[in-house]
Amino acid sequence: MKFHIITFGCQMNVCDSDWLSYYLQAIGWEQVAEEEAECFIVNTCSVRDKPEQKVYSLLGRLKEYWDKNPRCFVAVGGCVAQQVGKKFWKRFPFVRLVFGTDGVAKVPPALERLAKNPELRISLLDFLDFYPERENRLPVHLPAQGFVNIMQGCDNFCAYCIVPYTRGRQKSRQSGIVLEECQAMVDRGVRELGLLGQNVNSYGLDSHGDGVSFAELLHKVAAIPGLARLRFTTSHPKDIAPEVIEAFGLLPNLCPQLHLPVQSGANAVLKSMGRKYTREKYEQIVTDLREVCPNIALTTDLIVGFPGETDQDFEETLDLMRLVRYESSFSFKYSDRPGVRAEKMSNKVSEEVKQDRLERLQALQNEHTRAALRARVGTHEQVLVEGLSKKTGDLLPCWRGRDLGGRIVNFSHDAEMLIGKIVPVRITEAKKHSLWGIVEGEPW
Ligand code: SAH
Ligand code: SF4
Ligand code: F3S
Repeated sequence: MKFHIITFGCQMNVCDSDWLSYYLQAIGWEQVAEEEAECFIVNTCSVRDKPEQKVYSLLGRLKEYWDKNPRCFVAVGGCVAQQVGKKFWKRFPFVRLVFGTDGVAKVPPALERLAKNPELRISLLDFLDFYPERENRLPVHLPAQGFVNIMQGCDNFCAYCIVPYTRGRQKSRQSGIVLEECQAMVDRGVRELGLLGQNVNSYGLDSHGDGVSFAELLHKVAAIPGLARLRFTTSHPKDIAPEVIEAFGLLPNLCPQLHLPVQSGANAVLKSMGRKYTREKYEQIVTDLREVCPNIALTTDLIVGFPGETDQDFEETLDLMRLVRYESSFSFKYSDRPGVRAEKMSNKVSEEVKQDRLERLQALQNEHTRAALRARVGTHEQVLVEGLSKKTGDLLPCWRGRDLGGRIVNFSHDAEMLIGKIVPVRITEAKKHSLWGIVEGEPW
């Protein structure tokens, strides 16, 4: 069978899609371009209305393949699949498998059955009360960057968020299994590992934990010989332990970079969002982080126009941004999601006001991003190369990678292949969203 995977949403979806892709190839399926596929796997996100709508328009487009060849079929997975479930079948007859995150492990045999039996439809939507471990079928060589899920789900129920409903309750994986997986990836060429979860700071605190805390896990993973870089996402500020903050000063391969979603700078909004930290607590975390790791690159998520957010509340968010000076941020207009607490709140903010606030916030962020990038000019960075840069040079090929802080760095080099190498680069120029530099040492 020829398959094609399309992935929306967060790193965890990317990680699930990668697992499926490796597994299906290991059992003889062929990964192909969209036009050649007979089986389409769509891994979806429903965190806001927009990504959910994208799924429906994509399915509308995929229908054309089924019109031409009725053997073609679609499997829909991820958060929209969990939310909409079998209702997909009525609206989209060519959708023959729906699966949630806990069902991913069973997708390959389900697809094999569907390929053999065109009448069949399968749903894998049950939540399990343990992390469904799945057999890895990793290829011999992996890309230099790899991701490992350390947990699934979320127990926080922030008032705006659908994730606890689509990903289920928090389930930590056993630390030994996580370590084995990390080791296997490093053995196959991974140089930078990203540990993933909706709220990694509470790793091990649920009933599935084995007594190893997130800080301890970081120490264990960082000690894997040959691992050049370690990152993790996402961190909830309420659960970040002092030991995790200290790790930034202790572990040489833990990258000086942290995504720490704040959502709002106003205590009233944080409270009604149910975030369970105050602005003061957040500021203290930032101070502590900068004390142990002065160069730490901080990024965040922000929501504008949460129900009840006043002009003054919004000003407090801008004020917090001026204080922290994030390197970059993801910012979103509040979007109603079905069944979450905020959906029923009465004091909704108009679309016009949300749009205006978003634009002002993003303008401020752009200023901060530019200044942060300019401040890197003249520094010496280790750049892990991810691919060719979009702008190819006149004479030499241009490469694109990331420095330890996660910033994009472009440079020219005559090597035929640099992907996966770490290249010492001196930064010479800051563009709007990226840096440019000159190679000043041997790639390794
Ligand atoms: N677990 C992560 C967030 C996952 S969702 C955390 O707690 O930080 C990614 C981001 O989407 C959130 O940080 C939030 O900024 C945004 N988001 C989630 N629900 C939203 C909604 N209903 N409207 C707008 N943005 C939302
Ligand atoms: Fe959603 Fe909050 Fe859980 Fe993050 S911590 S996934 S924002 S409920
Ligand atoms: Fe989206 Fe689900 Fe991830 S809603 S952000 S794909 S957990």
